[in-house]
Amino acid sequence: MSERIAVVTGASSGIGAATARRLAAAGYRVIAAARRLDRLEALAAEIGGAARRLDVTDPASIAALAAGLERVDLLVNNAGGALGLDPIERSDDERWRIMWEANVLGVMRMTRALLPALRAAGAGHVINIGSVSGFEIYPGGAGYTSVKHAARAVTQTLRLELLGEPIRITEVNPGLVETEFARVRFDGDEAKAAATYRGMTPLTGDDVAECIVWAANRPAHVNVDEIVVRPLDQASVGHIHRRDG
Ligand SMILES: NC(=O)c1ccc[n+]([C@@H]2O[C@H](COP(=O)([O-])OP(=O)(O)OC[C@H]3O[C@@H](n4cnc5c(N)ncnc54)[C@H](OP(=O)(O)O)[C@@H]3O)[C@@H](O)[C@H]2O)c1
Repeated sequence: MSERIAVVTGASSGIGAATARRLAAAGYRVIAAARRLDRLEALAAEIGGAARRLDVTDPASIAALAAGLERVDLLVNNAGGALGLDPIERSDDERWRIMWEANVLGVMRMTRALLPALRAAGAGHVINIGSVSGFEIYPGGAGYTSVKHAARAVTQTLRLELLGEPIRITEVNPGLVETEFARVRFDGDEAKAAATYRGMTPLTGDDVAECIVWAANRPAHVNVDEIVVRPLDQASVGHIHRRDG
C-alpha cells in the first residue's frame, strides 16, 4: 500500500503538533501547515514530514497549498481558536470576524479545496476539531461558541452531502486542553491563561491527538461521527472541579 498522506492545519502548536507527531508514528506522511513556518520546519525535521506555510483565513494561501497536493488521505482541520472573553454588549467586531474566518470559513475553504485530492485517495477522511463549545455555551463565550456551533453544522452537513462516497467525516470535540489556546485568547496574558487551568488537570494536546489517530485508523467502512473528550475534572464548560476551591 502506498504511503498515506495527512494534512494537519494548525500544526505549529498544541493539538495540531501532537497530532502530526502521532500520525507520523502511525505511518502517515504528514504535511504540517500553519502560519509560523519556523516551528513547522522543526517539527517536519523531527517527524520526517513536510512544512507548509498556511493561513486558513486567506483563500490564496489555501489555493497554493492545494495546488501542490494530488492525493490526500486525511485532512485534519484543526487550525482555529478563541479571541477574548467579552460579553456581547462589549463584543469586538474584528475579533469576531477573525474567529469566523479561521474556525468556520477556514474549515469550509480547506475542505472544498482538498476534496479533489481526498477523492483521489479512494478512501479519504476529514477530521474537524470542534469543541464542547460547539454544543454548550457560557457567558462571555458567544464569539467562540457561535463559531464552533457553526463549524459543527458544517461538519454534519458535509456528512450528508458526501453520503455514498468513500470519504469519512469525523468531529473531535475536546473540553479544556492545555495548549497555547488560552494564551492566544487572552492576548498573551500568562496569568489569565494559567487561571483557565487553575487547580484542575486539563487534557494535553497528545490526549486529543490519540483520539484523532484512533478515529483515523478505524477500517474504511467505519465512520466515527464524533468524539467528545474532556478532563475528568470538567463535567461541562461551566462545571469544573478545582482542588484549590
Ligand atoms: N485548547 C482547548 O482547550 C481547546 C478545546 C476545544 C477545542 N480546541 C480547538 O482545537 C484547535 C487547536 O487549538 P489548540 O488548543 O491546539 O491551540 P493552539 O496551541 O493555540 O494552536 C492553534 C493552532 O492553530 C493555528 N492557527 C490559528 N489561526 C490560524 C490561521 N489563520 N491559519 C493557519 N493556522 C492557524 C496556530 O498556528 P499559527 O499561529 O502558527 O498559524 C496553531 O498551530 C482549535 O480549533 C481550537 O479551537 C481547543
